[in-house]
Amino acid sequence: MSDQENTEVDPSRGSFGTRFGFLMAAAGSAVGLGNIWKFPYITGEYGGGAFVLVYLGCIVIVGLPLMYAELIIGRRGGSDVFGALRNLTKKSGSSAGAALSSVAGVMAVLSGLFILSFYSVVAGWAVHFLGVSAGAIEAAPGGAGPTFTALFKSFEWSATWHTVFMIVTVVVVSGGINGGIEKICSRLMPGLIGILLLMLVYVGFTGGLGDSLKFLFAPSFDKLSMEAVVEALGHAFFTLSLGMGAMVTYGSYLKSDRGIVRDGVTIALIDTGVALLAGTVIFAVVFAGGKEAGAGPGLVFVTLPDLFDSMPGGTIIAIAFFVLLIFAALSSAISLLEVVVSFLVDRFGVNRKAAAAGLGVAIWGLGLLSANSSLTFGIPSALSGFLGEGDKAMLDVLDNLTTRVMLPLGGVLIAVTAGWLITKEDREAGFEHLDGGQTYAKAWTFLIRFVAPVLVLFVLLVKAEFISLG
Ligand code: TRP
Repeated sequence: MSDQENTEVDPSRGSFGTRFGFLMAAAGSAVGLGNIWKFPYITGEYGGGAFVLVYLGCIVIVGLPLMYAELIIGRRGGSDVFGALRNLTKKSGSSAGAALSSVAGVMAVLSGLFILSFYSVVAGWAVHFLGVSAGAIEAAPGGAGPTFTALFKSFEWSATWHTVFMIVTVVVVSGGINGGIEKICSRLMPGLIGILLLMLVYVGFTGGLGDSLKFLFAPSFDKLSMEAVVEALGHAFFTLSLGMGAMVTYGSYLKSDRGIVRDGVTIALIDTGVALLAGTVIFAVVFAGGKEAGAGPGLVFVTLPDLFDSMPGGTIIAIAFFVLLIFAALSSAISLLEVVVSFLVDRFGVNRKAAAAGLGVAIWGLGLLSANSSLTFGIPSALSGFLGEGDKAMLDVLDNLTTRVMLPLGGVLIAVTAGWLITKEDREAGFEHLDGGQTYAKAWTFLIRFVAPVLVLFVLLVKAEFISLG
């Protein structure tokens, strides 16, 4: 009966042409600033090996189950995130589920708008540093530190690169699933992995590789705090693009249920592999230059460019690195915009190009607030657990609001929906073609019903300071 409906794809929505194309787009969404900018600096701050181990555990216990949940909801729901959740919960006859999923859907769309608005500003900084590395833009006297500060403080520069980055993102998404997103990501991702491997070979010659590997892979548990565990779980979530229906949306453009479990694992492996590879390269450079690992958010924008400067062939390496960062950011930005575009296209029948352009302008406008670092908001102390303390710039407010509140909340809602509120047939569709599928389906159902929601809720409450870690 309904199985028939679900195996057919509405051809007017578009779909991925090949499995490879889908994998590149989904892995492209996952691999982003989170892998190359954030993962290395938080690993540095939390002391290396033990943190990495916990992070890997979180990917397996929470990340993978949610990844499958999002992909199967998209694939079986056959629509944008809001519609897919609604279709499946309605089908199972759960009216509470339908209401809950509407909340999740709206929040997912808002998360996409918010994240892209500041993500594009940070990506723009990478464009600026590419220009500086290539000698096309003048660096501030005194090296990367002052160059970064000047950029951060200059609304004109930040807004300019943000504008450029948004235009490129809109153009790709306007091209549709097969002709735009799939085509571009199928080039960006192999390019990105190629650059990383070349950099790995390079640091093999310049030294620091042994220290870097030891730092990342030899765990010393005395450095591990509860705070680090919370950070690791939050990051596992963000880095896999979970919690706002990015994977629901991409899953909805798949032509069959077959292979979804394996695809989910592949996407997570690529994402984790890139993070570890980027970490290995970055810490090799940092240690070879005699610098500290715990430099914080400035690690790739300040510490690294200065070190590149003093290395043989450093200009080429710096250019390669910032191209890498831009590729990673672009394929993620594309998926963020697609979540919102598909909402307008599927819900309201808006033409794809018009939706992409209109939303592009709206997100660009919101992003201008993040590009202006002198614009700050006083955070009421009741909200400081979520949004940070004192006066905060828009970029930090939106970053904290989405990664600390909206994505975890969205993740819990998606886990609950997948675990409890849709039919067993939809829930287990991806396991059907798998050897020993029933066993995996059972394990997955346990994780998605109990483990994932409880762990994520716990992190949410810790971040909100409802639970204190002492
Ligand atoms: N995963 C991306 C990164 O690591 C960020 C990202 C892209 C994202 N799309 C997302 C995060 C959707 C959450 C939801 O940089």
